[in-house]
Amino acid sequence: MKKKIALFLTGALFCGAECLAQKALKDIPLKDAFAKDFNVGVAVAQSIISRNETESIKLICEQFNAVSPESVLKPEYIHPTPDRWNFQPGDAYCKFAADHGLKALGHTLMWHNQTPDFFWLNADGSVKSQEQIKANLVEYIEKTVTHFAGKVYAWDVVNEVVSEEGGYRNDKGWEKYYKDLDELVCLAFSTAQRCDPNAELYYNEYNMWRQSKVDGVVHIVKMLKEKGIRIDGVGIQAHWGLNYPSVKDIETTIDRLYDLGVKVMITELDIDMLPFSKEGQMTGKAMYDPALQREEFMRYLNPYAQGVPEEVEQQIADRYEEIMRTIYNKRDKISRVTFWGLHDGVSWKNDYPIPNRTNYPLLFDRKLQKKKAYYQVVNIPSKKK
Ligand code: G3I
Repeated sequence: MKKKIALFLTGALFCGAECLAQKALKDIPLKDAFAKDFNVGVAVAQSIISRNETESIKLICEQFNAVSPESVLKPEYIHPTPDRWNFQPGDAYCKFAADHGLKALGHTLMWHNQTPDFFWLNADGSVKSQEQIKANLVEYIEKTVTHFAGKVYAWDVVNEVVSEEGGYRNDKGWEKYYKDLDELVCLAFSTAQRCDPNAELYYNEYNMWRQSKVDGVVHIVKMLKEKGIRIDGVGIQAHWGLNYPSVKDIETTIDRLYDLGVKVMITELDIDMLPFSKEGQMTGKAMYDPALQREEFMRYLNPYAQGVPEEVEQQIADRYEEIMRTIYNKRDKISRVTFWGLHDGVSWKNDYPIPNRTNYPLLFDRKLQKKKAYYQVVNIPSKKK
């Protein structure tokens, strides 16, 4: 009996201490917690603006001072067919940002994804000439950057052209159909610079913990600078996991990029906590095979469809604290941290790299409530460690 009482008291003490510890964490909006260090942004899904989702808008204004367009400033929205230009969704995004005093990023001008095939292919499927492909890029950037000049403060001019080994990828879109990527990257930046001399110009990339990939980005920055073409910053996307990358790799990349004399930004932060993808960023659609969505696989691949247990919630919170503390410790080198989505329910990670899963990659839950991870993150500046 005495043993049971002792166990109960220990449990109560632990819970009490845990509750007190949680209580001791202050609730400070993200943008205020890091006001002295860097801007804090969020990727905004088109539906939040088009449906005027007031609760989401209220949370965005309370927590963030910058926004990124999740999709509406991509070529498949702005120039969906050879004869159509559609700036309306992008204008709505820019108006939303201006109306709420938020810095509006432009994302992204040159990317192999969410860009219609006619930029590279003729109607019969044959590849357009190098001259035509180049002309299509220049025309797209001229029209788009000119239209949004003064409405967006910066552009992700080029997104994800570097391979994991550090050369240029050659598997999709611009990189697949154009021979000289050095030339095309320089053209993209010089065209953007010409059409909006006041906008900051960035290169943006994922898996920027892999130093061979960082080598390729270093090449791009040095090449542009040597040619006198402006590049103002590099985005580390930070689609990371519960178990990768290491703090050391994150620190090394931030230092290497900062030493190039450009702004360094965390541009698409989310943390995948589900099996298979929490160990590393899967790319491609291999896991979309219907066989893998059968119940015997989804029991393993999608274990938290009904909610996430306390201990896993704590793992997510601790990992977010570890990553954000690493970034905070490098705050003199970081100009912005953007989370790639407002809350768990709108995250692309629910459907990538495996469709129809319930993921928990952000700081706010599906009811827009602050998670443990939020409290541990916003208390980093005041917690000495
Ligand atoms: O617009 C169509 C809609 O008409 C259709 O009914 C629906 C169902 O198929 O699809 C809609 O398009 C989706 C699009 O997002 C707009 O919501 C695409 O299927 C979907 O694949 C696309 O996903 C986006 C993904 O980029 C595309 O690669 C994600 O929302 C977006 O978060 C993600 O963001 C990228 C960054 O731009 C660059 N860095 C990587 C990051 C993740 O891929």
